[in-house]
Amino acid sequence: MKQISEREQELPDSMLGMLSEIASEHKEIISISVGEPDFDAPKPIIEAVKKAALNYKKNQLSHYSSHSGRSDLKEAIIKKLRKENKINARKENILVTCGSQEAIFAGLLSTLDPSEEIILSNPGYLGYIPAIELVNANPVYVRLKEENNFEIEPDKIKEAINKKTQVILINTPSNPTGNVISKKILEEIADIAREYDLYIFCDEAYERLVYDKKHFSMGSLNGMEDYVVSFYTFSKSYAMCGFRLGYAVGPKDLTDAMAKTAQYMTLSPPTISQLVGLEALKMSNMYIEAMRKEYDERRRFIVKKLNEIGLRTKIPNGAFYTFSNIKDVTKKNSHDFALDLLKKAKVAVVPGSEFGRHGEGYIRCSYAAKLPLIKEAMNRIEKYLK
Ligand SMILES: Cc1ncc(COP(=O)(O)O)c(C=O)c1O
Repeated sequence: MKQISEREQELPDSMLGMLSEIASEHKEIISISVGEPDFDAPKPIIEAVKKAALNYKKNQLSHYSSHSGRSDLKEAIIKKLRKENKINARKENILVTCGSQEAIFAGLLSTLDPSEEIILSNPGYLGYIPAIELVNANPVYVRLKEENNFEIEPDKIKEAINKKTQVILINTPSNPTGNVISKKILEEIADIAREYDLYIFCDEAYERLVYDKKHFSMGSLNGMEDYVVSFYTFSKSYAMCGFRLGYAVGPKDLTDAMAKTAQYMTLSPPTISQLVGLEALKMSNMYIEAMRKEYDERRRFIVKKLNEIGLRTKIPNGAFYTFSNIKDVTKKNSHDFALDLLKKAKVAVVPGSEFGRHGEGYIRCSYAAKLPLIKEAMNRIEKYLK
C-alpha cells in the first residue's frame, strides 16, 4: 500500500514557511521574520544576468555544467578564499552547490552513518536538525547561554564527545543569535578536533555581515586543512538567494565524496547562476559594504528599541537577526507569544523554539527589512505589550 515514509512524516513543519505564507496573504502584517536580504542583488549582478542571457548559446546556458562546478568559478573562489578568508585551496578542494544548504546536506551524507553523532549549538539554524534527521544521524546539542553572549563553550563540546561523534558543526556569524565566534575559541575547538580526530563543519553563510568585530574562518587556522569543511553562500553577502549558489571548501577526500553525493541530488548547480556568481566575485566591495552599513544602522535601532520595550536583547555582532528574551514580558511560550503577536499586533517574528529547545523563551527578529517597516513593527509590539 502506498504511504509517506516515516522519515518524512517525522520532519517538523516549518513555522517560518507558515509565517511567510500568512504575511504574504495578509498585507496588513509586517514581517520581521525572514532570513533573506530585503535588498535586490546589486546592479553589476543584474547586469551579469542580462549579459549571460544575451550570450546564452556561447555560455551553454541550456546545459549542465561540470557537476562539482565550473572551473572558472572555482578559480575565482580560490582567489576570494585566499584574500578574504585566508584559506589556501586548490580546485579539487572546492565543490559548488545549489546554495550552501545543499553543500551542508552533502557534507552530512558524506560523513555520518546512521546513528552516528554530530555536535552542534542549540539554539541554532533551523536547517540543520531536519537535515541531520534525514540522514538518520543524531544531533547532540551544546547549549548557548544568553549570559555568555551566546558564545559556544569548547569545554561543553569536549564533554559531548563519545565514540559515535564524527563532526562538530559551528556557525559563525550565527543564525539566530548573531554571535561571532572569536579566534581564541575557534583555536580551542580546533585543538579538540585534532585531539579526537573529528571533522569540523564551519558554516560561514553570514561571513560579510559583521559589525564591530572581526570574522575569522576556522579553515584559516594552521594545520586545520585536513579537518575543516567551510561552507559559503552567495545568498546573504550578495543578496542572491534566488540564484541558489553556494560552495564548500575542505579536504579533497571529503569534497570528492560530497561531489559524488551532490551529483546524485542535483546533477549540477545552475549554469547561469555560476556565471553570475563569477561576476559577483569580481564586483567592487562597495556594493556589499553599502548593504552592511544599512544593516548596521537597523541593528543599532532595533536593539535599542527592543530593550526599551522590555524585550531583553544582546547586541549581535553579525548576520541580520536579534534574539530577544521574552520572559520579562510574558508567561507564554515563544510559539504562543509569536502567534499572539501575529494575531493582535500584526507583526511576524520567529519563536525561539524553532531553533531548538534551548531557544525557548526567546524570539528572533530579522532586520533584513526596511527601517520604516522595522520602526512600525516596534511601535506595534510596544502597543501590544502595553
Ligand atoms: C546559517 C545558515 N546556513 C546556511 C543557510 C542556507 O542558505 P543558502 O542555501 O541560501 O546558501 C542559511 C539560510 O538561511 C543560514 O541561515
